[in-house]
Parts: sequence; C-alpha cells; structure tokens
Amino acid sequence: MSESKWSQQRNVPRGFTYDERWQDLVDSGQNIHGEADFISGLKPSSVLDAGCGTGRVAIELIRRGIDCVGVDLDREMLAAASQKAPTIDWVEADLKDFNLERTFDIAVLAGNVMIFVLAGSEGLVINQVAQHLCAGGLLVAGFSLDAGGIALGDYDALMNRLGLSPAGRWSTWQRDPFVGGSYAVSAHRKT
Ligand SMILES: C[S@@+](CC[C@H](N)C(=O)[O-])C[C@H]1O[C@@H](n2cnc3c(N)ncnc32)[C@H](O)[C@@H]1O
Repeated sequence: MSESKWSQQRNVPRGFTYDERWQDLVDSGQNIHGEADFISGLKPSSVLDAGCGTGRVAIELIRRGIDCVGVDLDREMLAAASQKAPTIDWVEADLKDFNLERTFDIAVLAGNVMIFVLAGSEGLVINQVAQHLCAGGLLVAGFSLDAGGIALGDYDALMNRLGLSPAGRWSTWQRDPFVGGSYAVSAHRKT
C-alpha cells in the first residue's frame, strides 16, 4: 500500500479542513499563491504539481493558462481538489512509482511535500518526478528545514547523484535570498 508521513499522521487536517487554513490567510489579506507566482513567472507551458493535495497550486496555475496535472496519494485531499475543479486531471498515485507517460517544463513540490514523503523514499520520489521533466526542465521544491525531513545537504547530494544541476535557492517563494534559516525553495535543472 502507498503511504507517506502525511498519510501516517491521522490527525493532520485533510480535504476541505486543510483548505480552511489557507482560507483564513486569504481572509486576513494574505497572498496564498506565492508558489504559483514563482512558477508562472518562469513562463512554463506545462507543470506537474507533485503532491498537489487539495489543488491550491495547480488550480491557480491552470487559471493563469498553464497546462497542469496534479498527483497525490491522499484520496481525501484529491476529493477536495476534484470537487473544486472537476475538469482538471487529478491523478491518485505515489510519487515514488507513478508514470503519466508525458513530460513537463516544471515539476513543483509545494507545501512541504519533501518532508512528508516516507523517510528513505526521497531518492525514488525525486528520480520519478525528474523522469517527468523534459530536457532542461526545472524541479522546484520548497520545504521546511527544521521539521525533521531531509536535510538540505542531503537533498543537494541526492540531486547531484540524479544528475540535476543547481539552478537557484531562495528562502521564500518571493525569491528572498537564501542565507540559511528554516525554509528553502530550491530549483534544479535536468540536463
Ligand atoms: C502539506 S500537503 C501540501 C499540498 C499542496 N502541495 C499544497 O501546497 O497545498 C503535502 C502533500 O504531499 C502528499 N504526499 C506526500 N508524500 C507523497 C507521495 N509519496 N506520493 C504522493 N503524494 C504525497 C500528501 O498526500 C499531501 O497531500
């Protein structure tokens, strides 16, 4: 059976309950589309939203005219995504062994996906996501560095081992420079 640290945590908010947190931010005037701003600024034609959850990023990218497919293994998260956007292609699959039989300009792992994959599966996940990138495509991931997930040095070593080259690192999706700290947005290029 497919699992993630996310699916193993019985008490995390899922589906529309997960969305309430984002709605609270919207209600308090905050922009919840930093990832979509970052990604759409790179002008891709197509994006793979890997670990799409309830579709926050994919729905916004499609609204901006970008072809986007969302993949996630959590049925409840995907159910909310497909209720909100029934015409979008939502794929229930484990990132460590999925195959969409197509490639994308960019793959994005937003909202801490990398710290919610099973410990030890990070290499399989990145390898499989990278298989879905066209040559020159970018893999972009933002995740917390103090939540017990993969360390940044290990992430970089993994990317290097899989043949993905560093293409930028920031501390926020608004492209603030990375000077250490508890969050990193990293871009790596498939050559
Ligand atoms: C915190 S949510 C982020 C959702 C969305 N990306 C966002 O930013 O709103 C993390 C998501 O990663 C997904 N995930 C974790 N490991 C996964 C895996 N191996 N395969 C597919 N999805 C996975 C979880 O199911 C969950 O929906």
